[in-house]
Amino acid sequence: MMNYPKRLIEVDLPIKEISKHARREKSIRHGHISTLHIWWARRPLAACRAVVCAALWPDPADPLCPQRFRDDAAAIMGRFWNPLGRTDLEYREPLALRKALLEFIAYFANWDHSTDQRYLDAARALTQSAHESLGGAPGTRPLVVDPFAGGGSIPLEALRVGADAFASDLNPVAVLLNKVVLEYIPKYGQRLADEVRKWGEWIRVEAEKELGQFYPKDPDGATPIAYLWARTVTCEGPGCGAEVPLMRSLWLARKGKRSVAMKIHPDREKRRVDFEIVHDVQERDVGSGTGRRGSATCPICGYTTPVASVRKQLKARHGGAADARLFCVVTTRPGQQGRFYRLPAERDLEAAKMAAEELERRKAAHRGELSLVPDEPTPQGGGSGAGRAFSQRNYGMDRFEDLFTPRQAVALTTLARLVREAGDRMRTGGDPGLAVAVQTCLALSLDKQTDLGSALTRWKQDAECPVNLFGRQAIPMVWDFAESAPLSTSSGSWQSMYERTSYSIEQSYYFQPWTGSNQLANAALHPLPDDSGNFFFTDPPYYDAVPYSDLSDFFIVWLKRTMGNQLKLFESNLAPKDEECIVDEVKGKDKAYFESSMAKAMAEGRRVLTPDGIGVVVFAHKSTSGWEAMLQAMIDAGWTFTGSWPIDTEMGSRLRAMNSAALASSIHLVCRPRESPSGEVRTDDVGDWREVLSELPQRIHDWLPRLAREGIVGADAIFSCLGPALEIYSRYSRVEKVSGEQVSLSEYLAEVWAAVSREALGTIFSGDTGNFEEDARLTAMWLWTLPANGNGKISDVSEEDEDEDEEAPARPRLNGFFLEYDAARKIAQGLGVTLETLPGLVEIKGNKARLLPVSERAPYLLGQAALPKKRKKARQKQLTLGEGETPAGVLRCPAAERAISPGSTVLDRVHQAMLLFGEGRGETLKSFLQEIGQDQSFWSLAQALNSLYPAGSEERRWVEGVLARKKSLEL
Ligand SMILES: C[S@@+](CC[C@H](N)C(=O)[O-])C[C@H]1O[C@@H](n2cnc3c(N)ncnc32)[C@H](O)[C@@H]1O
Ligand SMILES: [Zn+2]
Repeated sequence: MMNYPKRLIEVDLPIKEISKHARREKSIRHGHISTLHIWWARRPLAACRAVVCAALWPDPADPLCPQRFRDDAAAIMGRFWNPLGRTDLEYREPLALRKALLEFIAYFANWDHSTDQRYLDAARALTQSAHESLGGAPGTRPLVVDPFAGGGSIPLEALRVGADAFASDLNPVAVLLNKVVLEYIPKYGQRLADEVRKWGEWIRVEAEKELGQFYPKDPDGATPIAYLWARTVTCEGPGCGAEVPLMRSLWLARKGKRSVAMKIHPDREKRRVDFEIVHDVQERDVGSGTGRRGSATCPICGYTTPVASVRKQLKARHGGAADARLFCVVTTRPGQQGRFYRLPAERDLEAAKMAAEELERRKAAHRGELSLVPDEPTPQGGGSGAGRAFSQRNYGMDRFEDLFTPRQAVALTTLARLVREAGDRMRTGGDPGLAVAVQTCLALSLDKQTDLGSALTRWKQDAECPVNLFGRQAIPMVWDFAESAPLSTSSGSWQSMYERTSYSIEQSYYFQPWTGSNQLANAALHPLPDDSGNFFFTDPPYYDAVPYSDLSDFFIVWLKRTMGNQLKLFESNLAPKDEECIVDEVKGKDKAYFESSMAKAMAEGRRVLTPDGIGVVVFAHKSTSGWEAMLQAMIDAGWTFTGSWPIDTEMGSRLRAMNSAALASSIHLVCRPRESPSGEVRTDDVGDWREVLSELPQRIHDWLPRLAREGIVGADAIFSCLGPALEIYSRYSRVEKVSGEQVSLSEYLAEVWAAVSREALGTIFSGDTGNFEEDARLTAMWLWTLPANGNGKISDVSEEDEDEDEEAPARPRLNGFFLEYDAARKIAQGLGVTLETLPGLVEIKGNKARLLPVSERAPYLLGQAALPKKRKKARQKQLTLGEGETPAGVLRCPAAERAISPGSTVLDRVHQAMLLFGEGRGETLKSFLQEIGQDQSFWSLAQALNSLYPAGSEERRWVEGVLARKKSLEL
């Protein structure tokens, strides 16, 4: 067995503070490395920084902690905190020293402190002392290894706190980003920033000469900054044939008092629509768009051309961006604030036409291996979660060139050629290394331009600017799009792109003390030799959440054209997909594939790590299958878990396929190689199932309150219990029953769920769960599991998430409390409940389970006649579902004011009272409460539910109303 001192992260971590800083970091728009280039689901630097420190530094209070580290750390902490007036910490005392270190980590996570030299010096000194006192050769640094490096957050933070970093990724775009962050920026620093600005400007001037004519200024001096286009279809209404512009919304600007919108005037004679721009309008004056959920409604005849026809028509025109209808031009005026909207003039249409002709000329004249405009195929994959990541093919956008208007194509290909030319000019006589670095940064700037300069860029009404395509991890269809003018100085312009790149380099270089290594590599075949790394810290793909390689193709096709043959990275046509470790049904990658390829990567991680090294793997997923696959992979790879920390960093962001009961936290799984001191994986320790099981409840019992104190509840808390629970199970190479039968991970996880459910329920009801029937236990646990989202009930589709290509007919929106079916099933099992036996409480559809809103339970509980009119819809639904399923003991009551009979369970009775309150039937409620209100379990349940129903929900209001009666009725 290995014997080593625990690291801080195996003992404690200030997760509340770190989470706060991680969330705040999301709003940092300037100077953050994320402004260099998009990478999907980047880790916040705050969380990475804190984790690197806490994993590299030993716990001073551990008996095995080297005395040298304690001494050094005490001196460093004294030097750091004393000048800040913090003399209350006694650094000689190991527990106090631990506290000082953790406090330092929490402060250092703050973005504002991340470049503060005092913090940097202290952190680096601690890292050095930790490394050397743990056996590292004097003068060397610990090596942090991240084989799924993506945008580079983890290796960047490793450098910052004084470690070395080895970053690799399968994706060439990710490798390029790491090259810039880990190599070019530390190496060239300010020179790089200056050169990017200089050559960026050179490109702008050259581009202006060629492209200026395609973006004419207004005669009054105003400058167009964006052109708003609508794709069109021909109305298939009988005898109509009008051109229907597809517009999702008619709003142009909507924020505070400011409101500008389009108005459609149907000209029935000419069978066409005209537009008007209206100012200072009210919501009710603005019509709805012409399309919803993929179908198009004709303003002339009112006919709705169905989705299939819309798709067919657009398909024939490769998406229809090239012949879209220009309906508005957005301008800025010299000396005036804000944006101005006008209808298109002849010169606008003429300019676009000229650009299209120019494109044709250039295409004909083009020679070269690669087509002028990228003709590579667009992705077809898309994960299995939503399967909607790539809908562009439904509309015939089969090649990347179809995602751009002709004018966008002329502009982007011109800029791409100038980036190459700038590189060539720099190389003649200059420093070839620097030249490649500058060219790369310019190429990345052009990528940002494509992200904001395609025909899939929406106009954002509240900010009055275009929104980048990859605001979502998908290529969704956009009907009416904003074409930004690349030569302006507004958002979407070339100038803003290279300026941001340059600024972000300036903000980064001075805290990157040395370069890190990076390489294109499959994590399952790691390039490093055995036992060479000290900390394996990685953030692998989250199961089916993000189809990285497909998404990155969008940029690769441009990078090939901006980098030429300067980098070998882009030799293959598109991003490598075969070895990508994700779940994607379209590519035939299922759970088993994910598990086995992830297990290989995790085994490689263990191999390259020294036997006394430490690992942290970040994971987030809302499905139990995603978790199971990840954990199985790690166990198979020979890791044992020694801790787990949730850091809620995904808050507010909308990971695709995570709309209901989304997991807010990313869980950091802390682990160690299950190895002997010689580096062999131990295969001989067998655990006794009974012992494992008997240890489990206590671990959960200790852990949940700790999480609650940090504000972590619900699904996040459940998943955060996996770490401590797995510590017990993964200590052994296998766990066996008395019979010798091996216990599978999924069998163990079922026990974990059950233990967590029981423990959580105990907290909800303060230990007194005996009196409640299964429906109450399930309801309470269900509500506890939901993330606290503050806005009441969760609908299964949110307006925002709706794709424009969504299949018609519209799904009816269902209200209620959603959980993944499997999660719900596991919770239920833990409570000894079978979901299927509670049809009046829970509805199961596909992979979702819905706890019915109380209003939908009314037919069961009060009888249908009692329902107020507005609930008609819900009632009808419920009747078809629940017919003949009225639980015994519940009487249907035809007359509204007749007394009702108490339901058979405490939950039914509480819901009855809530419904009576909700329907304003005060007298009935009073006599009902007088009849049953002596039962204290009724009130305890009501009290518990009061804290569980989401704030702002109908249920919360109703149960509060019922509780208020308790006092007045002196019950
Ligand atoms: C969650 S992302 C990493 C994000 C990164 N931590 C950041 O902050 O930007 C996962 C990465 O794994 C990469 N990847 C997927 N399969 C891989 C494989 N087999 N080998 C190496 N990298 C892989 C993807 O390209 C993606 O960049
Ligand atoms: Zn029509």
